[in-house]
Amino acid sequence: MAIQPEHMPTERMPPKHMPTGAATVTGLIGWPVAHSLSPAIHDYWLRAAGIDGLYAPFPVAPDRLAQAIAGLPSLGVTGANVTVPHKTAVIPHIQTLTATAQRLEAVNTLIVHKDGSITGDNTDAYGFATSLKAQADMACAEQIKENQQVMLIGAGGAARAVLDAVLQAGYQRVVLINRTHAKAAALAQHFQQFYPQASLAPVAWGERHLRLADCGLVINTTSLGMTGHGPLEIDVSALPDHAVVADIVYAPLITPLLAAARDRGLVIVNGLDMLLYQAEAAFEAWHGIRPIVDAGLRQMILDRLRDG
Ligand code: ATR
Repeated sequence: MAIQPEHMPTERMPPKHMPTGAATVTGLIGWPVAHSLSPAIHDYWLRAAGIDGLYAPFPVAPDRLAQAIAGLPSLGVTGANVTVPHKTAVIPHIQTLTATAQRLEAVNTLIVHKDGSITGDNTDAYGFATSLKAQADMACAEQIKENQQVMLIGAGGAARAVLDAVLQAGYQRVVLINRTHAKAAALAQHFQQFYPQASLAPVAWGERHLRLADCGLVINTTSLGMTGHGPLEIDVSALPDHAVVADIVYAPLITPLLAAARDRGLVIVNGLDMLLYQAEAAFEAWHGIRPIVDAGLRQMILDRLRDG
């Protein structure tokens, strides 16, 4: 069921519904969590839907993770997101994993059942897949039909979700490029067991420019290009004209990589939608309502990013 906000909540407006003592409690478990945008995103949707609910930040130190997870059912917390550094560490402390979380060996969403058991899911791959649909659907559909190649840059936690998303979407050929080559090789080997038909080829960091001409889709999953980090050194002029360039970095919204791709007239996919759509899936899992990623939400998040 889709919901439609009656009007746009803004920071200047009082919330339509203050949580009561009967509020449904969800939140974010991480260390640290102070700079997360997730409370603002979920609060926007709770207010828009008129749900008596609360999304709380839960800063949990690594040595307290087991206790924090064990306490969720007793506290009546119905769901939580999990972020760094707990996405993999949380797995031994929960009872079931979805197939996606098993493939990624990482959890970003917990669903606490009435019997006290907890399921771990990972909505990051859905978030990336949906961001491709939202920003480059036609171009990607054509590329998948033509069995074009993907270049995945980076081999950290985010790369796992993005790789799973592109393979689920139907891409079959991926070159994996990472500064630390062994991590790209390990990532390829790990996913090969789930996608035996796919060609997953680790390629040396120094060779990235040589491979661009063969790639339809290029995705940066490293932190390069983020505010305060150096740019990703890659020459988009070598890409074919039909290429799509995606970045999972969303601060700034248009990274140097995306700016260069846009200047070349290529289709670009910014990182904000991945953030919003992973949250959409978690919200739906907890509340049974699919919230809307609308212009008001995007603007609120962009304002927050701009204001630091
Ligand atoms: P996340 O969970 O966000 O993916 P991560 O697991 O720390 O974060 O991974 C960060 C990624 O950015 C890695 O692929 C990292 O490369 P290494 O595996 O070689 O460390 C990449 N990265 C970070 N800084 C980089 C830099 N200056 N140059 C190239 N790659 C970089």
